[in-house]
Amino acid sequence: MQIRTLREDELDDWFFFLTRAFRNKQNPPTKSYFERHYFSDPWRDCRGIFVAVEDGELIGSVRNFTRKIYCCSHEVRTCGIGEVATHENFRRKGIASLLLEKSISYMLDNQFALSILHTGNASKLYEGLGWKPVTRQFFTRRIPSDLYAPRDSTLEVSTCGSEIFEENSLDRLMSVYSKSSIKYDGPIVRDNKEYWKKWIDNETGKVSWNEELRTPRKFSVYLGGTLAGFVVLQFGNESVRIREWSFFSDQLSDEFDIVDLVLSQICKYYGERELIFTFPAPISVFKQHDIVSYDNTTMYKMISPELVPKNFANMLESDCTEEIRSQRHVFWDTDRF
Ligand SMILES: CC(C)(COP(=O)(O)OP(=O)(O)OC[C@H]1O[C@@H](n2cnc3c(N)ncnc32)[C@H](O)[C@@H]1OP(=O)(O)O)[C@@H](O)C(=O)NCCC(=O)NCCS
Repeated sequence: MQIRTLREDELDDWFFFLTRAFRNKQNPPTKSYFERHYFSDPWRDCRGIFVAVEDGELIGSVRNFTRKIYCCSHEVRTCGIGEVATHENFRRKGIASLLLEKSISYMLDNQFALSILHTGNASKLYEGLGWKPVTRQFFTRRIPSDLYAPRDSTLEVSTCGSEIFEENSLDRLMSVYSKSSIKYDGPIVRDNKEYWKKWIDNETGKVSWNEELRTPRKFSVYLGGTLAGFVVLQFGNESVRIREWSFFSDQLSDEFDIVDLVLSQICKYYGERELIFTFPAPISVFKQHDIVSYDNTTMYKMISPELVPKNFANMLESDCTEEIRSQRHVFWDTDRF
């Protein structure tokens, strides 16, 4: 067996290999999903894709995604791990572990501070190599449609399409996003316009999901005529999930819970008297009757401790296994690899 980087001319075989390896998952990703995640990534690079090859056939893969995240108000160079797969006939022989070790060396050589990944039931694989889960907290809240914005501000919440990523609004959107996301630990830094125009556009509703109802929908929020927010949601069985949230304005005082106001307008848009929303807890304050839930599927590993902000490094190094490791931890689903 050979371990090496993927060649450009093998990309199509790699998309097929991944589609096959993930086919037994619930809602398995299609080949076009993997193609999209490769071609809409401005930082794509085959030299960051490690494969295991046996008799000329791909039997294992790990992909490194070049990213930065906001962490303790800094931008931190972070490597996302994704497209981790081993051919069904070769599982539990240490191939994924071998490829991940290769990936760790790659991250060290390329001065990444952190590594981040999302996993369902393979957390043991990553724990064995030093990744640790960092909990994300969510609130589920019932929001009525009849909440009103303060009288002296005009809040307009409406659905939007790809035009929001056009030059005239993109600069403002990027500024709202960065000023809003820098308050949290974990969001991807989106300082590249191609990333917005391709990845974000595709993942926020341009590409329909197999189940049409689940296709993400995006909303813009204008305050006094100026773009102040961007919200992406997805209908689920029990609640409407907020996949990402940005809001920045110095016009609205803190006494108004902008999350409630915006979500109330979204209820109104759908003609519902009330809707139940689930959203990342750090975007709002806990309210009586909120249902709290946790997600432990996001894992981090420190690659270069000297490049990781101290508070975050301490949190990752601590043995605390309580439900909350970071009160500010969010990851917008749109960026998920
Ligand atoms: C998950 C996957 C990549 C593991 O590949 P692999 O080459 O079999 O992994 P390894 O042999 O290196 O496993 C190392 C350790 O990880 C853990 N592990 C691996 N697969 C596991 C699984 N499916 N469930 C639980 N633990 C698992 C075990 O502790 C294993 O050690 P052991 O075999 O001594 O018990 C493979 O099962 C796969 O391709 N699954 C489908 C795609 C997928 O789910 N990818 C992961 C997305 S996060």
